Amino acid sequence: MPNRNATNLNNSNLKNVFTIECMDIVLREFQMEDLDAIYSITLQSKIKEFLPDWIATKEQRREWLTKYEIKENKEFLEAVPNIPNIKGHALRLGIILKETNELIGWITSGLKDELPPPNREIGYAISKDYTCKGYATQAVQGLAKYLFENTNTDVLNATALTYNIPSNRVIQKCGFRLMGTIEIDDQEFYYYKLNKGEWENKGIRNL
Ligand SMILES: CC(C)(COP(=O)(O)OP(=O)(O)OC[C@H]1O[C@@H](n2cnc3c(N)ncnc32)[C@H](O)[C@@H]1OP(=O)(O)O)[C@@H](O)C(=O)NCCC(=O)NCCS
Repeated sequence: MPNRNATNLNNSNLKNVFTIECMDIVLREFQMEDLDAIYSITLQSKIKEFLPDWIATKEQRREWLTKYEIKENKEFLEAVPNIPNIKGHALRLGIILKETNELIGWITSGLKDELPPPNREIGYAISKDYTCKGYATQAVQGLAKYLFENTNTDVLNATALTYNIPSNRVIQKCGFRLMGTIEIDDQEFYYYKLNKGEWENKGIRNL
């Protein structure tokens, strides 16, 4: 039976679709066909707990995808290399497992209002069926490499609830430096930064 979350990267319609190649996964700009896969991952309990902003009905999700997310991706990519530091310039990429072409999560980069500028942040999610295989780490490394090498981004931020052990681990594995804690909506987050110089010097790009 065909996998309903499968998405074909070789489809000729996808020729002009932006992708970032990683080892086991490809990061690919959201497509309308991703609706079911994204929606079903947003129903998972860990996603609801750690990414409450992604909770939506299927109709809302369809509307966000059509009206904002796909459009903002285009605007972001058209602005490269000089991404303006204004709200709305967010990049949202599906995480596609090469082996099956399935969308297993997503990674985003937008501005985090609660942090002082430069406040470009990376955020991510992986379906519970695919965690602990290093996919989020590959995705963060792939997106950081793309942003540092191809855009005017010099600093990336990341935040994770202090008790979100896997997420903090991903951020640390990618070489981000702990800056401290920050309270957002009465919850305590660890707050990290990775700057381009550190990324180049530590050889994190080659991990
Ligand atoms: C956070 C998340 C993206 C991690 O994805 P992933 O693909 O499993 O991440 P990786 O496999 O690259 O790395 C996970 C690390 O956490 C570790 N880990 C996972 N659960 C753990 C636990 N309970 N205790 C200790 N370490 C744990 C893994 O062992 C691995 O570290 P290692 O490589 O040193 O062994 C995924 O769990 C998720 O989507 N969670 C819900 C959404 C979310 O929290 N998003 C981030 C919001 S800030």
